[in-house]
Amino acid sequence: MRTPHLPLSMFLSLVACAGSEQEPASMKHHDHHDPGKHGHHHPGGHDHAHHGGVHHDFSDAAEWSKRFDDPARDAWQKPDEIVKLLAIEPGMTVVDLGAGTGYFESRLATAVGPTGKVVALDPEANMVAFMRDRFEKAGVKNVEPRTCPLDSTGLPAASADRVLIVDTWHHIEKREVYAKHLANVLKSGGSVMIVDFTMETEKGPPKELRVPPEKLVAELRAGGLEARVVDESLPDQLVVVGKKAL
Ligand SMILES: C[S@@+](CC[C@H](N)C(=O)[O-])C[C@H]1O[C@@H](n2cnc3c(N)ncnc32)[C@H](O)[C@@H]1O
Repeated sequence: MRTPHLPLSMFLSLVACAGSEQEPASMKHHDHHDPGKHGHHHPGGHDHAHHGGVHHDFSDAAEWSKRFDDPARDAWQKPDEIVKLLAIEPGMTVVDLGAGTGYFESRLATAVGPTGKVVALDPEANMVAFMRDRFEKAGVKNVEPRTCPLDSTGLPAASADRVLIVDTWHHIEKREVYAKHLANVLKSGGSVMIVDFTMETEKGPPKELRVPPEKLVAELRAGGLEARVVDESLPDQLVVVGKKAL
């Protein structure tokens, strides 16, 4: 669905994110108020603003890849530290929710090993197609890119050991309900890890769109998970883990 004028809240969300989520360069020169010009649409096909989740156009996967997969990102994203914090064991099933262009996938695939599986979920079909192509070319066999609805992983109960959510939680609407769904998808003893921008950093979306750590913890607890902020050395982000009791 296309609208002739973008609501202000949606326009703000378009220009909202800096760091890994800043608009790709090719979009910066376009008129954000004309969605038709660069195919602006919500991944679920709805062009409307909503409460709790932040809209963004992720349809141009190749353009986003220049930013998401920029090797310079490693310096502040610290993907090896994040994967270490996940405490993944070989054979595990790890879900990457809002996987985007698949920045984390090679590391996750190595951590789960040939007997494990990485499920790379994204509601944006172009992101999923991009990942399929990328992993096929790279010969990566234990990553399954799949589309998911905006309000669900689409996965069965007790099917995941770990769920990683990087720079994506703030896009989700009704996060407490989503946390309950994640608790259902996790196996006993499994955990979900949210990585997102701190309130203080210059990177990331405007402060009013960020979720403070105590709220992240409360949202996961509302879903029935044992949640806490985790110690780490990321310069711009925080990490919150929610564990499902054994
Ligand atoms: C900023 S990107 C992060 C991509 C990846 N996690 C990374 O760190 O490179 C956010 C991703 O979340 C996806 N997304 C947006 N809304 C979502 C939702 N409700 N559920 C799951 N993913 C969502 C977008 O399509 C996009 O690929």
